[in-house]
Amino acid sequence: MSQKPSITFTKRAAPRKGSVVVLWAEGAGLSEAGAACDPANILERASEVADFSGKSGVVLDVLAPEGLGLDRLIALGAGKAQELDEYGWMKLGGVVAATLRRTSDATVVADLPDAAADGAGAAALAAGIVLRSYSFDRYKTRKGEASDDAAQKPGKIAIQTSDPAGAKKAFAAMAAVVDGVLLARDLVNEPANVLGPLEFVERIRKLAQLGVEVEILAEKEMKKLGMGALLGVAQGSPRGARLAVMRWNGGKAKDMPVAFVGKGVTFDTGGNSMKSPSGMEDMKGDMGGAAAVTGLMHALAARKAKANVVGVVGLVENAVDGNAQRPGDIVTSMSGQTIEVLNTDAEGRLVLADALWYCADRFKPAAMIDLATLTGAIMVALGQHHAGLFCNDDELAGWLAQAGSETHERLWRMPLGPEYDKLIDSKNADMKNVGGRYGGAITAAQFLQRFVKDTPWAHLDIAGTAMGAPSSEISQSWGTGFGVRLLDRLVRDHYEK
Ligand code: BES
Ligand code: MN
Ligand code: ZN
Repeated sequence: MSQKPSITFTKRAAPRKGSVVVLWAEGAGLSEAGAACDPANILERASEVADFSGKSGVVLDVLAPEGLGLDRLIALGAGKAQELDEYGWMKLGGVVAATLRRTSDATVVADLPDAAADGAGAAALAAGIVLRSYSFDRYKTRKGEASDDAAQKPGKIAIQTSDPAGAKKAFAAMAAVVDGVLLARDLVNEPANVLGPLEFVERIRKLAQLGVEVEILAEKEMKKLGMGALLGVAQGSPRGARLAVMRWNGGKAKDMPVAFVGKGVTFDTGGNSMKSPSGMEDMKGDMGGAAAVTGLMHALAARKAKANVVGVVGLVENAVDGNAQRPGDIVTSMSGQTIEVLNTDAEGRLVLADALWYCADRFKPAAMIDLATLTGAIMVALGQHHAGLFCNDDELAGWLAQAGSETHERLWRMPLGPEYDKLIDSKNADMKNVGGRYGGAITAAQFLQRFVKDTPWAHLDIAGTAMGAPSSEISQSWGTGFGVRLLDRLVRDHYEK
């Protein structure tokens, strides 16, 4: 992971060195706090010359004149201050990070009198700075080069707000979630030669330091439990299979847990139904669901969430050797249901079939939500700006959609139904692992639903959003960490007392 900028919150004071970024509410002119940093009245004059009015995200970047001791004076349009929500503040933070780039010492004047709770706002701004500053540079050996992102990290940033104590407190919880997002991004970005099932488990074990109970099932235990669907996928790879169980018990002993289940295919070649070479390298990210669950558990434990939460991830590599599963093979899942594997590239649902059943069976969760880079079809349907949401419970679907719009990790609900379910009935077994040509994301979800019993359940198909999504104000990373902020919000709003 790249160097994180170090952030502090302070009261108003005119900075004596470095660069200054002043938030400028649209139509409001330069704030009093901003004016205090600009005795020569540079920004006011520059805004007139440049026709800068404070529109959201617009930057006015001016070299500070000699004698002030400062490097740059920057005005950042904040839009209408009354309309700023948490994500709006985060986006401003992202623009701050992008604008400062190589600057090592900076002050951000985030004092916006018309904004609600500017302490919490300043904290969200800080979160945006950290998220935007991330780059995956572990394998860059020439870190000093101008073209190198790693050389362009802001160092120390002081954020001025009317409520530094409130901001500090709010940021402590947000920083836990940001760290969870960065962990998920790291896991998704890591190449598959470095991160296989066993190495993923080692990363998960580190969560024990935060108080997460970690339990790992190896092949032998999974075989005993009858997880023929998951193990069938793994059998073509020498790198083993694991099921990891993470538990965070922050709630009352009697509270039923909420459970999150992740697809963790550390590389997906397609198996014998092999993928074509173009773009196959992206399949190092086919563990984006497992990464999100791991990042979420990190976030919840680090901020000591008052909820009982279980995370289950199925970790395998879908590779090909002489022992690899063949099209037409029939496997028996832990549920006892048999599956005809018509396409070895539809492997994620096979992994999840056993992970979901195990989770529902053992933990009887109040709700169970899975995340998976499951189908290319969801990208055809929704593009890369919404993940697909499939759900057997309208209340849970509503909660998720709401958390999605608040965090801007957006979801779009897709249908389930008996007509779709029929499409995966098989002549030779209880079901087949692919439907027909149409509705591929839906038939995949129907397949999963056969393994959730009557648990309130949601499936998030994150194939389009977990990796390679268009960069945004708060992410320039290929692996996005999608799902961590979303599900942290869901837990906060509905499962914490
Ligand atoms: N991991 C892929 C889905 C995927 C594709 C994720 C592109 C991210 C980007 C999944 O295992 C897969 O191969 N799905 C097949 C299913 C098909 C064989 C029914 C697909 O979508 O083509
Ligand atoms: Mn596949
Ligand atoms: Zn896959």
